[in-house]
Amino acid sequence: MYHTKPVGKYLIEVCHTGPCMICGAEKTVEYLESKLGIKVGETTSDGLFTLKTVECLGACGYAPMFQMGEQYYEHLTEDKIDEIIIQCTISFNDN
Ligand code: FES
Repeated sequence: MYHTKPVGKYLIEVCHTGPCMICGAEKTVEYLESKLGIKVGETTSDGLFTLKTVECLGACGYAPMFQMGEQYYEHLTEDKIDEIIIQCTISFNDN
């Protein structure tokens, strides 16, 4: 629950528990690793994204899912992940 080293502006916490695993959490993690160019536990070189896996976030019926900040992103697909990453990047660049 505590970070022992700095994390990115956007902390992506992918649920990695049974129901989400059955529904594709592993592919979600692999896609995020590929998309962001980092492994779980790492932060992108621009400091924007940190990727973590976490235990059940209580949204099992909407798997696969991740939490980023106070927002849940559910029924994830590669297209949805692409859109989320783009929106975060645009939002960061506008500020
Ligand atoms: S198993 Fe992923 S939210 Fe519960």
